[in-house]
Amino acid sequence: MKLETARPVHLKDYRPPAYLIDRVNLDISLEPTRTRVHSKLAVRANPKAVGRREPLRLDGEHLELASIAIDGRPLAKKDYKLTDTTLTLTKTPSGPFTLDITTFVNPEANKALQGIYRSNKVYCSQCEAEGFRRITYFLDRPDVLATYTVRLEADIAAAPILLANGNLLERGTLPGGSRHYAIWRDPHPKPCYLFAIVGGNLAPISSTFRTMSGRNVDLAIYVEHGKEARAAWAMDSLKRSMKWDEERFGREYDLDVFNIVAVSDFNMGAMENKGLNIFNDRLILASPETATDAIFEAIESVVAHEYFHNWTGNRITCRDWFQLCLKEGLTVYRDQEFSADERSATVQRIIDVRGLKTHQFAEDAGPLAHPVRPESYIEINNFYTATVYEKGAELVRMIATILGRDGFRQGMDLYFERHDGDAATVDEFVTCFEDASGVDLSQFKLWYSQAGTPELIANLRYDKDKKVANLEVEQILAPTPGQPSKKPMHIPIRLGLLGANGHDLDLRLDGKPLEDGVVSLTKRKQTFRFSDVPSRPVPSLLRGFSAPVNVTLDLSDEDAELLMASDSDLFNRWQAANTYAARTLVESVKALTTGKRTNQGLRFARALGSAVQDDKLEPAYRAELLKLPTQSDIARIIGKNVDPALVHRAHRQLMKLVGKTLGPLLEDLYRDMADRGPFSPDAESAGRRALRNAALTLLAARGTPTDVARLAQHYGTATNMTDRAHALFLLAGRGGTEAKVALDDFYATWEKDNVVIDTWFAAQAQSPLAGTLSRVKALIKHPLFSLTAPNKVRAVVGTFAAANPVQFNRPDGAGYAFLTDQVLALDKINPQIAARMLGTLRSWRALESGRRAKARKALQRIARAKSLSPDVQEIVLRVLE
Ligand code: ARG
Ligand code: ZN
Repeated sequence: MKLETARPVHLKDYRPPAYLIDRVNLDISLEPTRTRVHSKLAVRANPKAVGRREPLRLDGEHLELASIAIDGRPLAKKDYKLTDTTLTLTKTPSGPFTLDITTFVNPEANKALQGIYRSNKVYCSQCEAEGFRRITYFLDRPDVLATYTVRLEADIAAAPILLANGNLLERGTLPGGSRHYAIWRDPHPKPCYLFAIVGGNLAPISSTFRTMSGRNVDLAIYVEHGKEARAAWAMDSLKRSMKWDEERFGREYDLDVFNIVAVSDFNMGAMENKGLNIFNDRLILASPETATDAIFEAIESVVAHEYFHNWTGNRITCRDWFQLCLKEGLTVYRDQEFSADERSATVQRIIDVRGLKTHQFAEDAGPLAHPVRPESYIEINNFYTATVYEKGAELVRMIATILGRDGFRQGMDLYFERHDGDAATVDEFVTCFEDASGVDLSQFKLWYSQAGTPELIANLRYDKDKKVANLEVEQILAPTPGQPSKKPMHIPIRLGLLGANGHDLDLRLDGKPLEDGVVSLTKRKQTFRFSDVPSRPVPSLLRGFSAPVNVTLDLSDEDAELLMASDSDLFNRWQAANTYAARTLVESVKALTTGKRTNQGLRFARALGSAVQDDKLEPAYRAELLKLPTQSDIARIIGKNVDPALVHRAHRQLMKLVGKTLGPLLEDLYRDMADRGPFSPDAESAGRRALRNAALTLLAARGTPTDVARLAQHYGTATNMTDRAHALFLLAGRGGTEAKVALDDFYATWEKDNVVIDTWFAAQAQSPLAGTLSRVKALIKHPLFSLTAPNKVRAVVGTFAAANPVQFNRPDGAGYAFLTDQVLALDKINPQIAARMLGTLRSWRALESGRRAKARKALQRIARAKSLSPDVQEIVLRVLE
């Protein structure tokens, strides 16, 4: 634990490393509490840093140093300097040399889950971002690339499976017969954050993939014994990802084997270690009985994401951690495109945009806002954010929108050709698109350095005599932490103009046809002049969500209804419904604030009914129409003096009104969309279940005895986890005997299943009922709960703080106090997870004054605590600032 106040690292201070490490030989002898790591490094001075005669300073934390030698000669104490975080060699040879270091680490005691740790008796590792320094002393930075040969040794009984990056060279039993070893070699130079090992008693499912050039790759997914069948969907997803990357981007896999291992305790979703991806088991294991359609979908997309990193992240990595979006934003874009191709592109876009707004827009609107390429950090793990990932993906998407599909592909080809084997930068990435297309992206690059969500204020003026429609758009860039004023951005706006019958009018911008429908907003205020417009049009702006911005456009109810009914861009048809719903909800909250009874929503409900009725639309899409904006979306739109209790009340009232108004339609959907035939996780069947469950939700909100009975029956007769979990959450949200019966049944069925039981925890933590906080306090004492298991913490503490706005934001502040206690306890165990949990308080300033004061007190209690980790220190400082 670092006691001093952690200091920030700045992008402007980047310098190439003074030394390079070309080859790494590791010999790791796995023992539960005392694992020996012998490292042999081929070191030389970096020719790009000549003249900087600096001592070699290696990173290392939580290590027990046993020996060091240079070119075989052991070093004496006076030849090096050791601190809690560094090992500095005072004298090194001027030419290349070999450095031998032996360290010991304790996997069993490692609860921060960085470096080598044990999860469920399995040895595994997590090195991104800076975990390798918890294994051995090293230049732990992504611009130091080496080839690795790794020898692993362990007890055969405890770890019959031994895996590392690359291809297997050799394996054998050691004299005595109780221990064995395996030697793995990865021929591709890589940064140490991509290093990984696994040792354990695991069961594989295997398959092969034939690449486009005809090579066979052995694929394996390792899971707990007895759970092999649940890895089939992940394997299927992997093969489809490999094929897709060949077809869409011309990228072929480059080793003889590709292994995936599922572990129970993992800080994030998954990790793209070269040839050896390690996954949180909840993102591998799935069967119809155990996993919801959302989980099937998430598995498909995360398996693809980690696989796609092989090119965008591994073959081309990042020069430094400020460039994180270079691999993450791009790889999210790629996995989104994959899902769009495998499923419905429109529905995928809706899901992605919904997630972006809920998580990233909220982040960008508060104290944790930061540019997609940050300029400084205290703890890099705090920057694995929705901004770097999801907004980062939107920036790549905008480049594709500006250049068109072919231009984008040419830029990507150039990027792979020019930078294969490099540790690259965002600037170099963008330059590839400029060079391939001739388009100047210098103004566009502001998207990487300016934080915040731009607001577009749009106005359409129609001149009936001239038949001209003038669309005036202004961009407003609000200040964000450290960025009081901003330059205008380059914002691609895809748009259409709808005639009175709802059809698209031909677009003529300044007299010329606008074929792709994309205009570029580059000034603070700009007017786009459309000619030959026969009648007053209704604008459909930001089709397909062509830029991550908020748009304000004064539309009458009639105009909103026209877009909802007939916009040719289905994304925008959904967006119109969503905006209409949000506007209705914001108005009801206003009415409730002034003590009035609200009667908003009838008109919206009817418009929604006619949009959903259209059975030419696919069920998954109709399900998205039926989902109202969430309470946190409404809170974000209101923006200040938010009373979460009123938002909750308005939300419940609108749900009920829609349920009542559309009752017969919803009942029909509920009946017609029932599963026919055996379960299949494909997008179409999932879409039918989604529509049926969306109808069920609204019917349940109506709350008649028949509705409650239907809900209880839905739970009782469910033949898959999608339906069962959906009913469980709704029941837990209502309470009463039906809820108790369902929760008890669920517990009895899944008590022994480490993954599935999290649904039981989360359903209770998310209940908006008054008793939830006491229930949550009981749950963290439950024998199946543990603060050392990130999935459990996320299921209970995370769900309560991030997905239960009304109970977390209790007016008495008890929700905040509970979170504070958990963050302080967690910080001693796993700082990364503690910092994540604390992030749920980021929107505290937008609350009404009473809750705001309570939240501030909770945050100050954390700020005052002694020996905080840098992770929590950084978040609490930024959130309070
Ligand atoms: N690179 C991983 C992914 O997005 C995320 C791992 C981040 N881990 C961490 N401890 N920060 O696929
Ligand atoms: Zn990633």
